[in-house]
Amino acid sequence: RTLLAGMLVSVFALYGCGKQQSETPAASAEASGAAPAAAEARTYVVGTDASYAPFEFQNDKQEIVGFDVEVLTAAAAKGGFKVRFENTPWEGIFATLAQGDRDLLASAITITDERKQSMDFSEPYFEARQLIAVGKGVTDVKTFQDLKNKKVAVQTGTTGDEVVQKLLGKTNPNIKRFESMPLALKELESGGVEAAVGDNGVVSNYVRNNPQNGIATVEDTQSFAPEYYGFAVKKGNKEMLDKINAGLKAIKEDGTYDAIYGKYFGAK
Ligand code: ARG
Repeated sequence: RTLLAGMLVSVFALYGCGKQQSETPAASAEASGAAPAAAEARTYVVGTDASYAPFEFQNDKQEIVGFDVEVLTAAAAKGGFKVRFENTPWEGIFATLAQGDRDLLASAITITDERKQSMDFSEPYFEARQLIAVGKGVTDVKTFQDLKNKKVAVQTGTTGDEVVQKLLGKTNPNIKRFESMPLALKELESGGVEAAVGDNGVVSNYVRNNPQNGIATVEDTQSFAPEYYGFAVKKGNKEMLDKINAGLKAIKEDGTYDAIYGKYFGAK
């Protein structure tokens, strides 16, 4: 309502009060063709689980910030659209896309064959891999296989959940599932589990920022395949996908992507 009211006010300002007031702002902007309002880029609503530093998280002012936010915002500027980020719980995030509550998703989402059946992905914008975190005093985990008889925390429905399911079995009670990655890592800190598995960027960021609690990381590049993050759109939304991909291509070419990457992860 307030947004609509705001748009109406600006339409009034642009056209004067005598013109086409019965139309919606979008319709009148379209009808008037070359008018300034028509040149306004469309704003897409972006779903993101903003508990996933450094990719998406809330800063002190509760603004949603992070690598994904900067990459998508920069790509949007080149692709001719605008974005507004909405904090959206990971569980159910894909449903918000299917239902049209979100126009796209930017949430460190790994492109998988299974997900591709129900949504479309942009070109990949980041390479990741699963990483193991072990609790204080856990010294017998050298590889992923060593988690076989351990209690392991994961974020529900992530690729981390999937790999752990493959090793331990889907219904194994030793898999402890949490709605966010910080909750899974908190469980590890408090000793409720011996390990956690999640995306490397997020796990290592957490361990680095919480040095006092004795969590360590164990890499296993043999067991974990590389994963690629993509922005997700509703299946068949080629128009939006083309804009995102054009924007991504432009920021990869002009150095913007590398600058954002460097800010968060250091030089490649
Ligand atoms: N990359 C993993 C996946 O796609 C985890 C993503 C979780 N993202 C988040 N913002 N919580 O399953």
